[in-house]
Amino acid sequence: MIKNICCIGAGYVGGPTMAVIAQKCPHIKVTVVDLNEERINSWNSEDENELPVYEPGLAAVVKEARGRNLFFSTAVDQAIDDAEMIFISVNTPTKTYGVGKGMAADLKYIELCARQIARVAKSDKIVVEKSTLPVRTASAIKDILTNTGNGVQFQILSNPEFLAEGTAVADLFQPDRVLIGGDTTPEGQKAIQALVDIYANWVPQDKILTTNVWSSELSKLTANAFLAQRVSSINAMSELCEQTGADVNEVAKAIGLDSRIGPKFLKASVGFGGSCFQKDILNLVYIAKSYGLHEVADYWEQVIIMNDHQKRRFAKNIIKTLYNTVSGKKIAFLGWAFKKDTNDTRESAAIYIANDLISEQASIAVFDPKVEEKQILKDLNALETRSAETNQKGIQTFQNSYDACEKAHAIAVLTEWDEFKTYDWQKIYDNMLKPAFIFDGRNLLDKNKLEEIGFVYQAIGS
Ligand code: NAD
Ligand code: UGA
Repeated sequence: MIKNICCIGAGYVGGPTMAVIAQKCPHIKVTVVDLNEERINSWNSEDENELPVYEPGLAAVVKEARGRNLFFSTAVDQAIDDAEMIFISVNTPTKTYGVGKGMAADLKYIELCARQIARVAKSDKIVVEKSTLPVRTASAIKDILTNTGNGVQFQILSNPEFLAEGTAVADLFQPDRVLIGGDTTPEGQKAIQALVDIYANWVPQDKILTTNVWSSELSKLTANAFLAQRVSSINAMSELCEQTGADVNEVAKAIGLDSRIGPKFLKASVGFGGSCFQKDILNLVYIAKSYGLHEVADYWEQVIIMNDHQKRRFAKNIIKTLYNTVSGKKIAFLGWAFKKDTNDTRESAAIYIANDLISEQASIAVFDPKVEEKQILKDLNALETRSAETNQKGIQTFQNSYDACEKAHAIAVLTEWDEFKTYDWQKIYDNMLKPAFIFDGRNLLDKNKLEEIGFVYQAIGS
C-alpha cells in the first residue's frame, strides 16, 4: 500500500488535488513540491487569503491536512527520493517557439521532471501523469526513466484531472469519474491498482475507470475539446439569434431539454477562457496534423476560430454602439477572471476585449473581486501589443464596482460573479454618463430591471 506520495507542481491542479488526497487519506504522507518558492511560501501561509489558488472550500481542506500529512516544499529531490508514487502536475503551455509554435504543447517542464526523477530515484516508483499531455507522452517519459541504468523500475500511469476551476474542491470530492490508464502488463496492472486504492478512499469504485495509457491520455484532450465545442456551438448560434429575433437563452433551454443534448455547457458568453481549452484543442489540432489527418484538425480548429470571433465581435459591438468611437471614454469592466469563483485570469476574454478597446484609446476601469492590479497589467503586457507604460495609462483598477462605474460611458460584464447581480443598479446608473450602456457578456443581469432604470442593455444572443 502506498504511504508516501509526492507531487511536482503546486499550481491550480497540484495544490487542490493533493490537498484533497491528503484530507481523504490521513494515512498517506503527501508532499507537494515546486521550484517557485513564492508559491510554496503562499501555500504554507497561515492567512487563508494568501493561498496562491482561490477556490471555494479549499482553505478549510488545506488547514485540516497541512502539517499533519500534507506538506508544501521546494525540496524537490528529497520528496522524489522519499515517495513511492510521484505525480507530475507541472504546466504544459502552448509552445511559443520553434516547431509547433502556437499549437503544440511545450513539454520541456515534463521532460525536466522525468530527468530529475531518473537522476534522483533510488527505489522503484510509480510515476503518474497528472498534467494534460499529448497522447503518447508516456512513451517519452518511459524512455527517459528506463535508460538510467541504475536498476530502478518505473511504472507510468496516466491520471488526467477533470476538475474545473471555481468548483475544484467539489469536483475532487465527488468526481464524475476518475480515469487511470496504465500498461496492460501485470506490473502495469499492479500500479493501476495502487492508484485505484488511493481514490477508493472516497470515490465509489464504479466511478473509477481504468484503461490503457493512450486512451487515458487522449480522453483528457477529447473531454476538453467536446466541452469547448459546446460553448463555441452555442456562441455561434448567439450571433444568429441576434440577427433573427431568437433568444439564445431560450434556444439553449429548448435544446438542452433533449436528454441526448443535455442542459450543461450551453451558456452563451463573451467567449471561453481559462488555461486549458484553447491550449488543449490547439494541441489536438497539432497532433491530428502530425498524423496527416487534416479534416480532423480543421474540424477542431473551428472551435478556436469561433471563440476568437466571439471575443472580437463583443469588442467591436461596444465600439459601434458607442457611436463608433471609444476614444477617451471610460468603460468599466465588471470581472477580469476567466470565470467566477477563481482568481485565475489565464486566457480570460476580458484581456482580449481590453486590448481591443485600448487600441481604440478607451480608458478601462476594472473591478474584479479576486484579481489584483498587477495581474491585470501582466496579462495585458503579455500580449505585447504596446508598451507597458501605455497599458498602464489605458487601464485602472478599482476596489469596488461603484467607483469603477462612476462617470463611465459603458459597463462590460465579463465575469459572472454572483455579487454583480446584487448591486444597487439605480445608484450605478445615477453616477454614469448618459446614455448609460451595459454590455452583458455573461447574460447575467436582469434586462427588464435595468431597462426600467434607464440603461441601454445589450446581452449576448438576443
Ligand atoms: P500551474 O502553472 O498553475 O502550475 C504548474 C506548477 O508547476 C507551477 O507552479 C510551476 O512552478 C511548477 N513547475 C514547473 N516545472 C517544474 C519543475 N521542473 N519542478 C517543480 N515544479 C515545476 O498549472 P496548472 O493550472 O496547475 O496545470 C497543470 C497541468 O494540469 C497542465 O497540464 C494543465 O493542462 C492541467 N490541468 C489544469 C486544470 C486547471 O483547471 N488549471 C485542470 C485540469 C488539468
Ligand atoms: C475546464 C473543464 O471544464 C475541466 O473539466 C477541465 O479539467 C479543465 O478545463 C482543464 O483541463 O483545465 P475550467 O477551464 O476550469 O475547466 O472551467 P470551465 O467551467 O470549463 O469554463 C471554461 C470557460 O468556458 C470559462 O471561461 C467559462 O466562462 C466558459 N463557459 C463555460 C461558457 O462560456 N459557457 C458555458 O456554458 C460553460
